[in-house]
Amino acid sequence: MRKLLPSFFILASLSAYSQHSLPIIPAPVKAQVRTGYFTISPQTVIVDRNGGEKATVEFFNAYLEKYYGFTLPVQKKADKNYISFSTKTFVKAPGNRERYTLTVTPANIHITGDGHAGTFYGLQTLLQLLPVQKTTSPDIPAVAIDDYPRFAYRGAMLDVSRHFFDAAYVKKFIDLLALHKINTFHWHLTDDQGWRIEIKKYPGLTEVGSCRNGSITGRYPGTGNDGQEHCGYYTQEQVKEIVQYASDRFITVIPEIELPGHSSAAIAAYPQLSCFPDEPTRPAPGTAWHGDTTRKNVQQAWGVFEDVYCPSEYTFNFLQDVLDEVITLFPSKYIHIGGDECPKDAWKRSAFCQKLIKENNLKDEHELQSYFIQRIEKYLNGKGRAIIGWDEILEGGLAANATVMSWRGEKGGIEAAKQKHDVIMAPNSYVYLDYSQRKNDDSVTIGGYLPLQKVYSFNPIPKELSADEQHYILGAQANLWSEYILYPSKVEYMIFPRLTALSEVFWSPLKHKNWESFKKRIPVQFKRYELWGVHYYPGLNEPMK
Ligand code: ACM
Repeated sequence: MRKLLPSFFILASLSAYSQHSLPIIPAPVKAQVRTGYFTISPQTVIVDRNGGEKATVEFFNAYLEKYYGFTLPVQKKADKNYISFSTKTFVKAPGNRERYTLTVTPANIHITGDGHAGTFYGLQTLLQLLPVQKTTSPDIPAVAIDDYPRFAYRGAMLDVSRHFFDAAYVKKFIDLLALHKINTFHWHLTDDQGWRIEIKKYPGLTEVGSCRNGSITGRYPGTGNDGQEHCGYYTQEQVKEIVQYASDRFITVIPEIELPGHSSAAIAAYPQLSCFPDEPTRPAPGTAWHGDTTRKNVQQAWGVFEDVYCPSEYTFNFLQDVLDEVITLFPSKYIHIGGDECPKDAWKRSAFCQKLIKENNLKDEHELQSYFIQRIEKYLNGKGRAIIGWDEILEGGLAANATVMSWRGEKGGIEAAKQKHDVIMAPNSYVYLDYSQRKNDDSVTIGGYLPLQKVYSFNPIPKELSADEQHYILGAQANLWSEYILYPSKVEYMIFPRLTALSEVFWSPLKHKNWESFKKRIPVQFKRYELWGVHYYPGLNEPMK
């Protein structure tokens, strides 16, 4: 009997199990368990024949070093005992750059991607075949895998406004996404409670907008105010570093610059952005405030606030300047412009807005919001970028080329797809990982109940869509809002294992989605979380409702 091996490997060596017994999440499209093992030894080498897999090879060695305490030499060729990484070259472009094959025999390991991303995902699968205990001679079961994702867009959002997470932790979060074959990091950088990205032309955004004087304590409206400054932002140098770090993991970073609502932090720095620059910021009713109340301030409670961007030329110039800097930092096709939860109260009582509505033949304030978003869309389209907005951007008419992120259930996504717009599904009923994962959570959460099995049951393609309309669903995303998430350990407790369940929803073919199979594989994943030193919620049997 081999020591150190979890029992499923021993069983697999007898070829007694199908791919469902392999501890791989997301489940691969095709996997054959073969006989025997490849054992990594001090003589094993990594082969990168063309030197084209540097990012993947470095990720592999960093992982081996961190969790097993050794690295392997990298060579251009080897005759035996090697782990080879390569990417196919095509006369024409590959059908799917994220596809890979992984072949493990007792002699060698071959990972071949159809694109470099595929090679990287082949590595991610290989990492899941490593033992979950530290060892210097890991055994890897012999397998033949052919795999590619169900959806092209597989995202996760982190809100760094309500609570700030430093650049080092953002990188760790990105690593955790990479390990789950997630290819998009949606970075929620601005909101009422803090502006988190340096903009050189408007230093006030970070000098003023990145700090609040206190935060409510307990669940909204809270039991008091902690009276503590909460500050933080990323310099442009840090942003560039993070974007490159993500790119080395085949992850695109999409920044979100919220407009026209959720803009209190920017307004605190530049009050002229409000239709009522002289009115002080109003605390949310029933919440405790700390410090000055005589002027504009960064908000200290959670929720939705009436003071929003005024659709003035001053505001449009400001936003265009901000976006100019943002697009130099983020090469992503998409810029997320928010668009959610924008109360219309201020626009209703603003003579300027009412005049603007008349002059532009707009029906109401919803159409004024569309006017706002359409101007921003046009600006960004002119710079070669496309916008994503939360599903409220449907109200008052969709901007011409906008992609809709459906969060208030699936309705907005269905509506947008029917209007022939691209959609990313992020319904709160399935992917809001700030909701509780057990009935009586032992820490404060935003509320809601979203157990693992419910998350796992999510299908991003709504049954209401015809086959043609289904093509507009680019993929889906997990969202983590941070009102009640103050520390990295809580981030991890909230996302694990639910993000792992979503990785299978995003990647695996529907025919492989099977709760009983997932439940059999997840205990190994729990051990892997322990190897990684990340926090997680260990319950598997929470009721669906
Ligand atoms: C949202 O949760 N307000 C997009």
